[in-house]
Amino acid sequence: MTSQKKKKLKILFVTSEHAPFAKMGGLGEVMFSLSRALKKLGHDTRVMLPRYGTIDREKWGLKLEHKHLSVPTGAEGENEKKHLICNVLRFDPSNEPRSPVTTYFLENEEYFELRSNAYGYADDRTRFALLSRGTLEFLRHSDSWNPDIIVTTDWMTGFLANFMKFEYATDQKLSAIATILSIHNLAYQGTSKNHKFTPEMDRDDGYGPLPSFFSERMLNINPMRRGAMYADFINTVSKKYAEEITTEEFGEGLERLFQERRDRLRGILNGIDYETNNPATDQTLVERFDFDALEKRGPNKLALQQRFGLSQNQDTFLIGIVSRLTRQKGFSLLNPVIEPFLRVSKAQLIVVGTGDTELMTYFQELEKKYPDQVRAHLQFYDEPHLVFAGSDVILVPSIYEPSGLIQMEAMRYGAIPVARRVGGLADTIEDYSPITGKGSGFLFDEFNPSVFLMALTRAFVNWRHRKTWRKLQSAAMKKDFSWEHSATEYITMFHDAISLMKKDILVTTPLKRKRDKAGIIKVAS
Ligand code: GLC
Repeated sequence: MTSQKKKKLKILFVTSEHAPFAKMGGLGEVMFSLSRALKKLGHDTRVMLPRYGTIDREKWGLKLEHKHLSVPTGAEGENEKKHLICNVLRFDPSNEPRSPVTTYFLENEEYFELRSNAYGYADDRTRFALLSRGTLEFLRHSDSWNPDIIVTTDWMTGFLANFMKFEYATDQKLSAIATILSIHNLAYQGTSKNHKFTPEMDRDDGYGPLPSFFSERMLNINPMRRGAMYADFINTVSKKYAEEITTEEFGEGLERLFQERRDRLRGILNGIDYETNNPATDQTLVERFDFDALEKRGPNKLALQQRFGLSQNQDTFLIGIVSRLTRQKGFSLLNPVIEPFLRVSKAQLIVVGTGDTELMTYFQELEKKYPDQVRAHLQFYDEPHLVFAGSDVILVPSIYEPSGLIQMEAMRYGAIPVARRVGGLADTIEDYSPITGKGSGFLFDEFNPSVFLMALTRAFVNWRHRKTWRKLQSAAMKKDFSWEHSATEYITMFHDAISLMKKDILVTTPLKRKRDKAGIIKVAS
């Protein structure tokens, strides 16, 4: 490794979610655990996010870092505000072993503080453009800290690389920072109308300048596309998903762009936090266990059945679902086949999660129809580890899955995933083969109810052979999904992004870069 590659980096994540301050899904969890893992490797890693109304200044001991930061809005008319005034607050890590890294909060009353949700407002594009530009202004004015790398996440901060390549192209300090777009979910691109149903002609091609924060044209902007065009490097959260998004099936209309930028696109699998996801020490379990003491898992199954008011029996096949209940997660596959399966196998099904009304109603109805076998807990449940520790299988039949964390957590607790062979699921689960006796789960390919049923039935049949099942469980539990490996891959990517960016700067002057509409920098002929 060259000395350049050994250099400790300063890394800033700019994100809409960061646990425990704000977490709506996997993104918030990953921001928390990845930033900690990078810090553990010795890199100065920090995170920036909005201070939503739900983030309490006192509770987290937030200190004022920058007062009255004036963020340009790109105002187009006399009547538009030229600047929005923000503050930046700062959280310093505590001595608690689970403390988040240094975190900055962009404070603005109108756009963040008065909103109780992170997303779902008509002016979301303006809110996140403000986060992106606010971050850059903050860095421009701060003389104490200068990152080498900024990692933006999904459409929410896709604006940032766009501002960098145009508005700040000649800023000496900022133009020396390499930007990454991390894609956690391509289906959400930040457009006001679903990008899939927008005619090609009306789609943002990403070339024109960003309109003012207040312009109606902001409604047509696709920040995900812009992030993918202008970031120095792109990564997704598994290798398989990085390949998939170059195809029409998974590319969500951006596949051509990813094909063009393939040399700057990398897949790095998410990890899970091995301290909090540890069945050997987990206080939320009734009995703690490891792969060499699997019999201690039994009491957890009984406790789970009792907690959900189902009959307690170790010999009943117990299926768990812990998920956001959205279309992505593929539960529409259950509809025609789960009922006969429940009738024949006498299995129990526990569903934990919230989401789309249609899916929630479906599970409620299923519970009504099979009151002795099904429980639908359609709200936040703060002890999901007991579901992993007590279930025999966990269903993850996703249509697409950039990474997926649930299957990793489930395997760590000895619950065997039945999952579709896509994205991170394909990269983390090895399909069980009765011939070799190897595997850690049951995979299926085609998104089709009968094909899913076959995988579930394979799991059920093998579960009845206790020796086989124990082998499967122990293989699943022994898999290593800790962050160490992936965090090192991030560092390699950061170094690669920095050298690519330096090369780009060498071959183009800032002025030429500014004129380069595509943002994919080429030497002018
Ligand atoms: C999104 C993806 C999920 C991934 C998570 C964290 O929620 O849908 O697959 O695990 O982001 O990266």
